[in-house]
Amino acid sequence: MDYSILVNKDNKIKSNYIDRINLIKTKDVEGIDVFVEEKTYNAYLDLKNFLFEKNIEIGISSAYRSIDEQINIYNDFINRYGKDYADKYVAIPEYSEHHTGLAIDINIKIDDKYPSNNNELMAQKKYYEDIHKYLKDFGFILRYPEGKEDITGYPYEPWHYRYVGKFIANIISENNMCLEEYKSSFSGILIVNKEKGCTSFDIVNRISKLFGIKKIGHTGTLDPLAEGVLIVCIGQATKVVELLTAEDKEYIAKVKLGLKTDTYDIEGKVIEEKLVEDVNIEDIVNSYKKTYMQEVPIYSAVKVNGKKLYDYARENKKVKLPKKEVTIKEIEILDKFNDSFVFRTLVTKGCYIRSLINDIGNDLGCGAIMTSLIRTKQGNISIDKSYTISDIENGNYKMYKIEDLLDYPKIIVDSEEEFKIKNGMKIFNKWKIKDKVMFFNKHNKLLGIYEVDNQKLRVWKNFN
Ligand code: DAL
Ligand code: ZN
Repeated sequence: MDYSILVNKDNKIKSNYIDRINLIKTKDVEGIDVFVEEKTYNAYLDLKNFLFEKNIEIGISSAYRSIDEQINIYNDFINRYGKDYADKYVAIPEYSEHHTGLAIDINIKIDDKYPSNNNELMAQKKYYEDIHKYLKDFGFILRYPEGKEDITGYPYEPWHYRYVGKFIANIISENNMCLEEYKSSFSGILIVNKEKGCTSFDIVNRISKLFGIKKIGHTGTLDPLAEGVLIVCIGQATKVVELLTAEDKEYIAKVKLGLKTDTYDIEGKVIEEKLVEDVNIEDIVNSYKKTYMQEVPIYSAVKVNGKKLYDYARENKKVKLPKKEVTIKEIEILDKFNDSFVFRTLVTKGCYIRSLINDIGNDLGCGAIMTSLIRTKQGNISIDKSYTISDIENGNYKMYKIEDLLDYPKIIVDSEEEFKIKNGMKIFNKWKIKDKVMFFNKHNKLLGIYEVDNQKLRVWKNFN
């Protein structure tokens, strides 16, 4: 169930939507049956009880509406107030958020009675505004806020609340957005601490579901066996995935000697077992502080002739494994046991730690496999800044901006340059930028990332 579903003037309700939700029957302020989606109803009851403690009594005046009910409301508004007024306030049937069961129109009891028309409702504006600050704590947002009329397509409705769940309600409220803005332009970067067992793609899926946003990408895959820093980009921030992926990465790996497996790690099939004789681990490990052509492991998603290498392996087909240049910038042994050791290393983009371990094992003569792997750093983001998926689900996380994680010069431009940047035009490199630069407008909004092009700067990514 997608609690952040967008139904508005441009997005109509899907015909099979109603089959997928559970509606609860209750009574409206006039004692007539009304239906509300189950979670929305429970959240409403919590809100109602909370407000009752504060001597504010609320009731539902409208919630789930079938298409036929919306037709009746629309026609009733035309009869009572005229077509212009109806078109302004009431959604065309099929385009009303009330079809979701997640929207409730609230009435407040004042002087022992509920209002009976839109004018009386509007006269209660200030009473409504007293309760808006509590909505997010119950998973609701004010769906048609003041000042966002051009985006939502509707005038300010202080009574129309929409259930999106506490997680998204908090983000929308913190960022002072409406649902349309959140769905189309929310952007940010999460530093996830991936746990063992799940794939990087599983993490992306969970974050996508949690945020109700489809555009999500991770930067640099971690195998299921690996844990640690996995940087995940949301929305517009997916535009910088390649930059973050390109950064150096630090790992702590545990190695078992005397074994070879097809995957180079403990999860693979054992293909050779050897006695570990007196081996000089230090010398061999330290000799890897270099740039070398590393063979890509067969159990990887790297493609050769359009086909993933692990598919060749699974089909038992021969394939020439490609080599990639990698640099092991730092490598040191942290701990040593009889037939195993732990090391820390800092490597460039594309380096496979299990391949490095396999190479070390070959040099040692006894073979070696990876038994555990933690990514402790990516660029200058270290693991102590990361959050587990359950931290994030509980709202305990920090959302970074693109500019927080990129190390390029930051320049605020004037309005003429802002215009050029917004239109993707080249600009003169008066700042003598050498590589890339981040341009902001005077409100500190990131406009674009530009890169050097002779005497000028050309657009690399635009963030309009
Ligand atoms: N009043 C809201 C916009 C509706 O009719 O759905
Ligand atoms: Zn409404």
